[in-house]
This record gives sequence, structure tokens and C-alpha cells, in this order.
Amino acid sequence: MSKLTVAVCGATGAVGREMLSTLHQRAFPATEVLAFASARSAGNKVEFGDQELTVRELKEDSFEGVDIAIFSAGGSTSLKFAPYAAKAGCVVVDNSAAWRMDDRCPLVVPEVNPEDLAWHKGIIANPNCSTIQMLVALKPIYDAVGIKRIVVSTYQAVSGTGQKGIAELEKQVRDLFNARDPECKAYPYQIAFNILPHIDVFLDNDYTKEEMKMVNETRKMFHDPLIRVTATCARVPVFYGHAESVNVETEKKLTARDCRVLLSQAPGVRVYDNPRELMYPMPLMAAGKDETFVGRIRDDESVENGLNMWIVADNIRKGAALNAVQIAEELVKRDLVRVKEEDRNLFLA
Ligand code: A2P
Repeated sequence: MSKLTVAVCGATGAVGREMLSTLHQRAFPATEVLAFASARSAGNKVEFGDQELTVRELKEDSFEGVDIAIFSAGGSTSLKFAPYAAKAGCVVVDNSAAWRMDDRCPLVVPEVNPEDLAWHKGIIANPNCSTIQMLVALKPIYDAVGIKRIVVSTYQAVSGTGQKGIAELEKQVRDLFNARDPECKAYPYQIAFNILPHIDVFLDNDYTKEEMKMVNETRKMFHDPLIRVTATCARVPVFYGHAESVNVETEKKLTARDCRVLLSQAPGVRVYDNPRELMYPMPLMAAGKDETFVGRIRDDESVENGLNMWIVADNIRKGAALNAVQIAEELVKRDLVRVKEEDRNLFLA
């Protein structure tokens, strides 16, 4: 394409800023990059490499001449504006949960199911951060020996809640060290020096919505409605980087040793696993990196075909901004930066 205009919608947020820096760092082949946010931020500046972009208010008519719009502005903003983007022929890559389970929208991690991009109708969903890193690590195992069941517990950083989560942990730590009562706005309880077994809202089955995202998104991306997944998601007082304890029961035997070899060849994965040298992944080492780190790989001695592992990635990068930019890169590479005429009104109810 000779001309390629990309818009970042939610450009002032934690993920939006990272999207801009990821587009710049990876030299995304855009001829123009536009920054959108709410009316509150219109006229403010955001960084794009060594340039500054002026933030514009996102409106229904913002998408004329835009080829790809990457959204990270919350579910309600995506629900409202993404249909107008598609109508204007602009392909949306959306980081919110709004479109993920919609049958008209592919849900994609490029290392897992890039082939699903081929059937997009204008809106492509970026999965939940915890699901992305888990599936980057599990896809090679799924392909090699099959997976029957996944049991996952997450330890998720406050940046997953956006700027307000980061600000709340910072402020509570400062307040507590200054003998002031910490204020709780972003979370129902103090997050500093605490762990909350609660992310997103509770559902009728007593799981949280975050936990059910891990179940349903895994099924959609593996095209396997029968795979058994159970999740417990916790918020921990860490700024950047989600960690996950993952137990898998496989169809056929895969030893821990073979699993290390398999994952060391997998795209986007870095095996970091040597207990004798105290080598295991942690949020502090994964923050700012692109790879999904896997360590503590060991045989689950309680079942015939089982493995345990510890998976860590930067939730703002691979868990959000990087995955979205990689989707945009695949769209360009596969010549899919277009919404067919017959699909343009599909999302406008
Ligand atoms: P704004 O800064 O103008 O409120 P985070 O998740 O880090 O809080 O970021 C949310 C992002 O979504 C911000 O860039 C925010 O812009 C943007 N946003 C929120 N509501 C809207 C809206 N109605 N229209 C456009 N952007 C929005």
C-alpha cells in the first residue's frame, strides 16, 4: 500500500501510549499516525518517537481516510465507535472485551491463530492479556500432544486496570509510608501490600468475568469448544507484568524435558528455566520485553500426562499493545487492510 493511515483510539491511556511507542519502535509502515481520545484530552500532546502528536476528540466521523484503527479506550467506547470505523472501510483492532466473543469478529494472537484474520469483517478483537500469554506458551503443546484440561491461577499487575490502577498503587504506598489512610478508588480494597482474588465483576456462577474470559477466549482461539479450562485471577501489587501458574493435562505424554525443547523453538516464547541457577521468570524481568517467558516447567506427578509451568509477560506489551500492533502488521503482510463493501454496515445495529 502506498498510503497507510493508522489511528490509535485511547492514545492518552496506559495501553494507548504503549501502542504508539510500539508502532514507532517496530517501524510500522504507516504514512500517518493519528491520536484520538475523549474530549477531555483534545489538544493535549502524546509522544510518538521523537515527535509529538496532537490528540483529537474521537467522533463518529473520525475514520474517513483511516485504514487501521487500534482501539484501547474501554468497552463502551469500542461498542460505540468501532461500527463507524468499519462503515468507513477502516479495519479495527480492538483491545477491549466488547467484541471478543462476537461470532462476526476473529479473536487473534498472531502466534496462535493468524489464519482467523482472513475472515475478518472489519472488527478484529485482541484477547484478554492473561489469555494471550497463556496461549502463546500453550499453543505448541496443544499442537504437539493435545490438551484436555488447563488449571490456571494468575497474579496480575495493576497496569491491567489502566492509569488509575497504576496511580492507586503508587499513591497508597506513599500514603502508607506517610502514616496517611490509603484511599481505595480503583479497587474495593487496599491493593498495596495485599492481594485481591477479584478481577472484573462477579458472575452468577461465582467466577469473575476475567476468569470466564480465560475459559471462553481459549476455546474460541483453539477452535476447541470442549477444552476444559478453569481459572482463578488475582490482582497483586506489581506495576507491570502478569504471572501465571499453569497446570495442563495433555492427551499424550510430553515430558518436562521435551516441553522445554518444544517451547524453546516456539515463536514469541523464551524458556527461562534453570532451578539450579535460580533462573525463573518474574514480572520485573519481563516488564518492557516482547517475549512470553516460561519457567518452572516440571512434570505434574499427580497425573499420568500433566505439566506445571510459570508463565510471565508484560501485560501492557504482549498482553495488549504489542499483540494489537502484531495483528496490524499481519493485516498489512496478508493484504487484508480493507473492509468489503457488503460488510460495512454489519456492526451498525
Ligand atoms: P482520556 O484520557 O481523554 O480520558 P486507561 O485505560 O489507561 O485509563 O485509558 C483509557 C483511554 O481511553 C484514554 O486514552 C481515554 O481518554 C480513552 N477514552 C475514555 N473514554 C473515551 C471516549 N468516550 N472517547 C474516546 N476515548 C476515550
